[in-house]
Amino acid sequence: MPQQVRAVVAKAKGEPVTIETIDIPDPGPDEAVVKIQACGVCHTDLHYREGAINDEFPFLLGHEAAGIVESVGEGVTSVEVGDFVILNWRAVCGDCRSCNRGKPQLCFNTHNAAQKMTLDGQELSPALGIGAFAEKTLVHAGQCTKVSADAKPEVAGLIGCGVMAGLGAAMNTGEVGRGDSVAVFGCGGVGDAAIAGAHLAGASTIIAVDLDDKKLEWAKEFGATHTINAGSGDVVATIQELTDGNGVDVAIEAVGLPQTYEQAFYARDLAGTVVLVGVPNPEMKIELPLIDVFGRGGSLKSSWYGDCLPSRDFPMLIDLYLQGRLDLERFVTETISLDDVEEAFHKMEAGEVLRSVVVI
Ligand SMILES: NC(=O)c1ccc[n+]([C@@H]2O[C@H](COP(=O)([O-])OP(=O)(O)OC[C@H]3O[C@@H](n4cnc5c(N)ncnc54)[C@H](O)[C@@H]3O)[C@@H](O)[C@H]2O)c1
Ligand SMILES: [Zn+2]
Ligand SMILES: [Zn+2]
Repeated sequence: MPQQVRAVVAKAKGEPVTIETIDIPDPGPDEAVVKIQACGVCHTDLHYREGAINDEFPFLLGHEAAGIVESVGEGVTSVEVGDFVILNWRAVCGDCRSCNRGKPQLCFNTHNAAQKMTLDGQELSPALGIGAFAEKTLVHAGQCTKVSADAKPEVAGLIGCGVMAGLGAAMNTGEVGRGDSVAVFGCGGVGDAAIAGAHLAGASTIIAVDLDDKKLEWAKEFGATHTINAGSGDVVATIQELTDGNGVDVAIEAVGLPQTYEQAFYARDLAGTVVLVGVPNPEMKIELPLIDVFGRGGSLKSSWYGDCLPSRDFPMLIDLYLQGRLDLERFVTETISLDDVEEAFHKMEAGEVLRSVVVI
């Protein structure tokens, strides 16, 4: 039977989000309805509310979630009712050019639910095809990745976006290796996950850059060996000083601003790698001398979702967490209810939290 559930909706650009009662259809072929247990507040939700992603309002926000499969549609064999799953926004098709070339993590044709959830008859746009600030949500079954039910929902859900994006930016896209030097610009949930990823990968110098001293203190807890407050002094020169005048092997931008991208570009060593994981607004532009792009060599990469493959990476990261080797609990600053998402956005903007996590 179609159901009605409480959910957080962004109705118009820049307007505060509201709690609404939305309609969820029964799962059709290849779809699943998931009872949400926890969903983290990611900066990308705020980007949606601000109209910075696209104009397809109303948005059903929330996309960093874990929960229990409540029902599945025809033909679903990958998950069963009762499975504990993390929702992903990379349900690979298995059939596009990228999948066929053995690179499903770059799939061009990822799946979302075919049916729409609605508000008073109007179709909702679920954030990243998920929409999990809701008691239940409808997704494509491929968006459900089963993991060990021993993991707490409020930490497991974080793997579904920001933590995976940051860890993967370091470990997959940036290919950080043993003994490397790494700088991370922006120490929110995503940047701190990049720091944790660099630490897990064996980097020996990990430089955290932020404007907020509290964020820099937290960054140390994830493995930063040095910190720089970007508001005081020349960031690039300081990074060079900390790396024998060379710059870092891998510079990870986790803010989404031209000025931090430019700092990352110049803070890396010759032949180093820049990884852009922060999401810029569509109006943002960057101007760089082409001779510097050429002359410094190396590679300029962008990282979507940490180039992850959910079926490969989510269970592995949950195992590392359960073994005590990846401190996911440290990302959770507070647990909140669905009614507190708007306030959580303000706390995020004020830099008071790493992750507020809605628990249902
Ligand atoms: N590429 C992906 O797949 C992906 C996935 C999730 C999130 N994101 C993006 O990653 C970015 C970070 O997300 P988050 O949830 O960690 O956000 P956040 O707001 O929690 O963290 C951003 C951090 O950047 C710092 N900062 C702001 N301006 C700065 C500056 N000029 N120099 C240094 N630090 C500065 C802030 O103090 C804050 O600590 C966002 O743009 C988000 O949309 C990307
Ligand atoms: Zn594909
Ligand atoms: Zn996100």
